[in-house]
Amino acid sequence: MFRAVRWAAGSGRGGRGLRWLRARVRRRSAVLFILLWLASWLFLSGLLFVHTTMFSDFCTDDKSRRILQRLCEEYQQGVLTGDLCEDLCVGSHVEYKRCLYYENGKKVMAASWRGMPIVLKSKLENFSSYEALALLEYQDTAGDVGAEEELSPLDVVFYATLQIKNLLGLEAGSNLTLPRLWGQKLKKRSQSYSRAELASLWALLQQEEYAFLRVMQDLTDHVAKVLGSCGHFYAVEYLAAGHTWDQNIFSLEEFSQSPKSGEGRTMTEIDMVPRVALSFLDMVDHFENDFSHHLHLCDIKPENFAIRKDLTVAAIDVDMAFFEPKMQDILEQNCTNDNDCNFFDCISKCDKKRNKCGSKRKNSNLQVICEKIFRSWFSPTLLGDKAGRPLQVELQQAVQDCAETEGGEYAERARNIRLHLQGLLTQLVQEDSANHQSRKQAHAKRRIHTALNF
Ligand SMILES: Nc1ncnc2c1ncn2[C@@H]1O[C@H](COP(=O)(O)OP(=O)(O)OP(=O)(O)O)[C@@H](O)[C@H]1O
Ligand SMILES: *[C@@H]1O[C@H](CO)[C@@H](O)[C@H](O)[C@H]1NC(C)=O
Ligand SMILES: *[C@@H]1O[C@H](CO)[C@@H](O)[C@H](O)[C@H]1NC(C)=O
Ligand SMILES: *[C@@H]1O[C@H](CO)[C@@H](O)[C@H](O)[C@H]1NC(C)=O
Repeated sequence: MFRAVRWAAGSGRGGRGLRWLRARVRRRSAVLFILLWLASWLFLSGLLFVHTTMFSDFCTDDKSRRILQRLCEEYQQGVLTGDLCEDLCVGSHVEYKRCLYYENGKKVMAASWRGMPIVLKSKLENFSSYEALALLEYQDTAGDVGAEEELSPLDVVFYATLQIKNLLGLEAGSNLTLPRLWGQKLKKRSQSYSRAELASLWALLQQEEYAFLRVMQDLTDHVAKVLGSCGHFYAVEYLAAGHTWDQNIFSLEEFSQSPKSGEGRTMTEIDMVPRVALSFLDMVDHFENDFSHHLHLCDIKPENFAIRKDLTVAAIDVDMAFFEPKMQDILEQNCTNDNDCNFFDCISKCDKKRNKCGSKRKNSNLQVICEKIFRSWFSPTLLGDKAGRPLQVELQQAVQDCAETEGGEYAERARNIRLHLQGLLTQLVQEDSANHQSRKQAHAKRRIHTALNF
């Protein structure tokens, strides 16, 4: 600095210019400094924001264990119960593995139950966060005499059915054929329910996913199996979920040595895809025809489906599965154009005269599955050297047709498309087994041959 001043003093006019320059540089660096400071401030506060929003509910093993520990404490206090509690809390036959997902309070963790991989789920972390059954509170206030007037199992079935209808949006007047089987199971009991049992049932019945899965259990294989429950947590079978970041979509290699694939052979992924696709078609058929109401899947992507060892497909994320009455409720919105009538994968048309979306879904489960799942499976890139064969070419065409046909009002056409696809896939599976058979025979012949050489 000192040198600069002396230098400036000793150089007359040129010094003024230099001062001006220096002032400018200083101003520029000040602006730069402020900018830098602002940027880092923004960055840091952004980081903090992301941290607090994303990781406040972050899934840690520590947290999971504490949640399960609290569950067991409440079991021991007699607050809650379930067929899983004894194994979870006393026998330690349920071993916590890792957490899969925590968001908005929803807890999903992987565990192993007597050696079987399971997934433990609850919409909310704490049992006390669920609404208590009002009838239990009524019994409390009615005093000790009222406690003897317990709910009969039939009452419980009645309330449970009402609650399920309510959750799934099935109108009360409709013939509810859905939880019939479940009702029979409940009715078999002769003794009445304990408080803990009722409270646990009620906590479970406040979870749409549980209600849905429970209702579907005995009706179809195409949803995850519910294996048991303890308090507000329920256990479903662990399945290999699909994923999009991998072109394999399902981790089929896990199953490539499944017993069902026959004669101890290893099935390659290409062999498995048509079998899985056939199961998807079977699921579509089920969801359309086997329940008292058509079931719509409005969030179709590989992550929301999983496959079992026998290559059957199961829906694992059913938050966006709706029966027809609820679907119509959801679709009937005000609109100015068709885009207002898109609810994820479920779309209807805008009636511009009434400015209301049609209540009937315009596209179908099959159309979306073809568009979002089958198209990439049967694309030339994934089929590799098989892509040019006539059957594959025909299949690609059929998938394309399927993805472009909305179904809905053209039910007949959609049915034909499904049958056509089914035929082609079955042919593919048979061709593959035949190929395999001949390969095996060739292999055997060669062995005999070499054997004869000796
Ligand atoms: N039966 C299962 N087997 C294996 N993994 C499962 C199973 N059920 C759920 N998962 C995994 O747990 C994660 C969260 O589960 P789930 O899909 O029920 O949560 P969600 O709140 O419905 O998720 P999303 O936000 O995607 O709707 C999923 O990413 C899935 O990979
Ligand atoms: C659950 O209960 C625990 C202990 O009582 C409490 O610390 C926690 O905040 C509760 N969580 C929620 C989401 O209510
Ligand atoms: C209920 O079932 C009866 C006979 O099974 C049938 O006649 C009636 O139309 C059904 N009602 C509704 C609302 O589906
Ligand atoms: C839809 O439109 C009707 C009249 O056209 C109006 O009364 C109603 O409030 C609207 N609903 C919503 C959700 O905007």
